[in-house]
Amino acid sequence: MSESFQKSKKEFRRYTVTSALPYANGPVHIGHLAGVYVPSDIYARYLRSRGRDVLFIGGSDEHGVPITIKARKENVTPQDVVDKYHYMIKDSFEKFGISFDVYSRTSAAIHHETASTFFKKLFDEGKLQEKENEQFYDEENKQFLADRYITGTCPHCSYEKAYGDQCENCGTSLSATDLINPKSVLSGNKPVMKRTKHWYLPLQDYEPMLRKWILEGHKNDWKSNVYGQCKSWIDQGLQPRAVTRDLDWGVKVPLEGAEGKVLYVWFDAPIGYISATREWGEENNREWEPYWKSKDSKLVHFIGKDNIVFHCIIFPSMLHAEGSYILPDNVPANEFLNLEGDKISTSRNWAVWLHEYLEEFPGQQDVLRYVLCAAAPETKDNDFTWKDFQARNNSELLAIYGNFVNRTLVLTHKYYDGKVPARGQLTATDKDTVSQISRYPEIIANSLENYRFREALSELMNLARLGNKYLTDNEPWKIFKTSPERVETIMNISLQICTSLAILSEPFLPFTAQKLNNMLGIEPMMWDDTGSIENLMPEGHMINKPGFLFSKIEDETIQQQIDKLINTRKLNEDKDIPENEPFKKDIGFDDFLNMDLRIATITGAEKVAKTKKLLKLTLDTGNDTRTVVSGIAEFYQPDQIIGKQVVLLANLQPKVIRGIESHGMILMAANNKGELAFLHPDKVINNGGLIS
Ligand code: MF3
Ligand code: ZN
Repeated sequence: MSESFQKSKKEFRRYTVTSALPYANGPVHIGHLAGVYVPSDIYARYLRSRGRDVLFIGGSDEHGVPITIKARKENVTPQDVVDKYHYMIKDSFEKFGISFDVYSRTSAAIHHETASTFFKKLFDEGKLQEKENEQFYDEENKQFLADRYITGTCPHCSYEKAYGDQCENCGTSLSATDLINPKSVLSGNKPVMKRTKHWYLPLQDYEPMLRKWILEGHKNDWKSNVYGQCKSWIDQGLQPRAVTRDLDWGVKVPLEGAEGKVLYVWFDAPIGYISATREWGEENNREWEPYWKSKDSKLVHFIGKDNIVFHCIIFPSMLHAEGSYILPDNVPANEFLNLEGDKISTSRNWAVWLHEYLEEFPGQQDVLRYVLCAAAPETKDNDFTWKDFQARNNSELLAIYGNFVNRTLVLTHKYYDGKVPARGQLTATDKDTVSQISRYPEIIANSLENYRFREALSELMNLARLGNKYLTDNEPWKIFKTSPERVETIMNISLQICTSLAILSEPFLPFTAQKLNNMLGIEPMMWDDTGSIENLMPEGHMINKPGFLFSKIEDETIQQQIDKLINTRKLNEDKDIPENEPFKKDIGFDDFLNMDLRIATITGAEKVAKTKKLLKLTLDTGNDTRTVVSGIAEFYQPDQIIGKQVVLLANLQPKVIRGIESHGMILMAANNKGELAFLHPDKVINNGGLIS
């Protein structure tokens, strides 16, 4: 048994397991599941199976500017937005078996009360600094503007729609005051600067505490990505951080003279974990405080990597400042999951949405849980592909786990009408197999206690492989007639492996485990029951009729999903086309008449050496034969265009291009991607024919 395994077993009486509260401004997708909810659920289920006291907390994060912007766009209230998505998200989690003890929301009254009290206590104890500064203000709407409510030109790349906090074109993070020509999103007007008052958490005061606690105390047990981010933040020097905003959606600042101000969403949201625990306490008539305030409670935050600083630096500083709370023991943050090679994106609809998966793959939640755990972005970003999804289902879940269980149960019915046969004399292989089975609970537990979920899952599959191999090597179907007693032993041991699988796979594959329990005719058992096969399935026990745990996923099914994504990509490409150019300013009729536009025919074409874009064209204009250099080589091959009639601007001053004198210009139409096309007269016109 590893040291950390013993340590966590010995020292902690209770486990407070939190999972990042998703923003209630959109549905949840596979990235959420893989990064946060599958690992945290596995962890919580595992702890319960070991009989530990665990509270698994989730909820919706319902404040913040993006929610108010979405509401404005859709012409509904922010509360409408969060109501819609809160219930949708909650439902998806339930259907995927995410076993929260409580799933709350930050618009709940108990949360407003908890967050507000927390702030007030810090304020009363002088732990917040009050500062005035100037911020952008929209005079027409009489409102201070959050960074996302200001757009303007990026000072780095000149992109005209950069936001006050970031330019989405070049990725630079900005301050609203960096923008050239700032505009209010609300009115389109130029905002003015106005003084405003806010409260700051002096993070620099907590630097010594953070150094000691994280940099010295958790160097070896926190993941290196998490530790590294913390170290770089602390080493860069911590600054006071504003914890209030001028906004009307959120938890009101509980002070006089703070009208129109709310707590910053990243101040209130993590307090949401505490509010949810209180809500659970009230509903279950249990004390909530030990989960947050007892030194023998282990607090673990499951998050994605973009949340690290909030959970490792800011929230712990808040908890420490408040004074009565424990700090997290670990923050196992995951990296990001990509989808078919591209970043998952809500706005581009580049995602596999959980509510859609549930409709398209009914009853197959465990397959997705399995794939997302097996390919979890634990140490680096990882890619979800539908081909991999199919392969893992067909050649792992179905071919190994499902196949082993099915063969065992079918044979037990065939040979013994479903009654568990007795174990006779054990051969050397039997003994070896039995001793291997009994080691798995500890092997898997050790990986789980150290947040190595992929490793844990692959060990679980090794147990299924062990069973499969045992059956295949011993071939009971070949010796049933000749050595019936030997077959009884083989089947007994195979059934023990099935039982062990049912117990150990429950955290990962809860629906499968339940089905398997039903087929085996047993009640769910505890993790530690698997340590010895004597505790598993007794001789003479009747099992139920076997059904299928997994089913084959066909190529067509996968192709449909891939097609769906290809469609999304096409739609996005169309969206990416830049907007039309605005019209130029008016000209007089004479300006137009000055242009000599003619029909001409291309009689020769060749590439201009050492250029990608240029063709040297020979034109019959009716009046002369001339040379024109034209930038169309990316769109037309020379031999494709001989004989085509084109529109020529004939009186453009001659110009030498790459050493060739060009007499005039061919007029082309361009789409918004810059692809060129010829303009043809729609019946033959003699060369030199006028265009007017
Ligand atoms: N809503 C945040 C996000 O999706 C996570 C909030 S976690 C909490 O990135 F701790 F603040 F609740
Ligand atoms: Zn930019």
